[in-house]
Amino acid sequence: MDLNRNNERGRPRQEERLQKVLAQAGIASRRHAEEIILQGRVKVNGEVIRTLGTKVVSTDRIVVDGRLLSIPQNDYAYYLLHKPTGYITSVTDPQGRKTVMELMPKIPRRVYPVGRLDYDTSGLLLLTNDGDLAHRLMHPSYGVEKTYRVEVGEKIPEQALKRLEKGVLLEDGKTAPARIREVSPKGRGSLPTYEITIHEGRNRQVRRMFKAVGFPLSTLKRLRFGPLELDPSLAPGAFRTLSKTEIQHLRRAVKLT
Ligand code: URA
Repeated sequence: MDLNRNNERGRPRQEERLQKVLAQAGIASRRHAEEIILQGRVKVNGEVIRTLGTKVVSTDRIVVDGRLLSIPQNDYAYYLLHKPTGYITSVTDPQGRKTVMELMPKIPRRVYPVGRLDYDTSGLLLLTNDGDLAHRLMHPSYGVEKTYRVEVGEKIPEQALKRLEKGVLLEDGKTAPARIREVSPKGRGSLPTYEITIHEGRNRQVRRMFKAVGFPLSTLKRLRFGPLELDPSLAPGAFRTLSKTEIQHLRRAVKLT
């Protein structure tokens, strides 16, 4: 059987017994699932499996009576947090600053932030224990788009916007092309506001890009992460679980389905 049991970092994926996976998928009771396996009705990655106790991982292709099984991922948890400023995205902080983990529910399965937002950045932060998904979402080769809303002290001239779009030279190299548009609110007294979409994830990238063209940011907030959007009704510090559709869209965005 051609099983890729390691994830991209070479770490082993979590293994489950085939009959347990079938039972969790609602195919049959555990006992009946065993009979189905013994009857040779289950294929894993194209090969009929008749051995009880065979271990499978989340990327295995399981077919029962010719129908592809979608593997239940009951052990996974996915949260979308509206990160407020004043929190770091690490799990612990030697300097004793508040971490986003303090905002999360006490659930038996620990979730981790996917990527990072600066201490002084707010907005959409995904937390999960789905390691394969998290790894891919952060990996530059999947080019997951992130959109940020930025406020700056003064209106940015067209030429500087063009430079941001084309890519600016930072100390760690030129940035990839970005999309940018002005979304300044009409009211008096509000700061010029822009939305920028990038697909890289370098450290403090957006702040450094704007600084490089001469317009340091006043505020930075992430509005979108791949297919996920920050709900306008989700208050800073509040979180919600992802819907099944959102999880599917995320997985699809990084070719996990
Ligand atoms: N870019 C930044 O500069 N900071 C963030 O927190 C995210 C993107």
